[in-house]
Amino acid sequence: MNKARIAVLVSGGGTNLQALLDAEKAGRIPHGTIRLVVSNKADAYALTRAERAGVETLTFTRGGCGGQEGLEAALAAALEEREIDLIILAGFMSILSADFTRRFEGRIINIHPSLIPSFCGKGFYGLKVHEAALRCGVKVTGATVHFVNEIPDGGRILLQKAVPVLPGDTPQQLQRRVMEQAEWVILPEAAELVSSEIIKRKDLA
Ligand code: GRF
Repeated sequence: MNKARIAVLVSGGGTNLQALLDAEKAGRIPHGTIRLVVSNKADAYALTRAERAGVETLTFTRGGCGGQEGLEAALAAALEEREIDLIILAGFMSILSADFTRRFEGRIINIHPSLIPSFCGKGFYGLKVHEAALRCGVKVTGATVHFVNEIPDGGRILLQKAVPVLPGDTPQQLQRRVMEQAEWVILPEAAELVSSEIIKRKDLA
């Protein structure tokens, strides 16, 4: 069967990448195949996870590519060369330019650890998101998978899952619960959803 060719972009530990690799192995992404993992950090543990799974890895750092523009040019060339259909940002800590997001419109998705439109946009990343949720006193938070456009965390929402905030939660405890109960669940689901749409479109072409 025809499968959508997926690239996963990472910067850190790669637990979301791991959830994707595990889901593919378990047959939960039948319309997609992870072909490439790209990091913008040379020491990202996510690269080790990819290598262990036998997936090709590339590292493009801003410094090594002569800035963000150079990085995006190298990235776009690598993606096109490998005929990548779907780009998944899984803890990728770099904001992509409007030129880049337009070039791959409708083919880039991102996971964000809150229920967008709460606690999102520029400056809301990592633990900061959960610290803000706790400061506000929300009783429910969660994760969102959305399409990526030129506005940080601003593209159309694909999937969301809610997670309770418990009394006495630390930002770390809340982050862990959001990952386990929401991020690692909906990111593979979204990967399958968009992959099957891409394949449907290709079959019609
Ligand atoms: C996750 O919380 C993700 O939502 C955010 O960055 C974190 C990445 O974690 N964008 P990991 O690298 O997937 O472990």
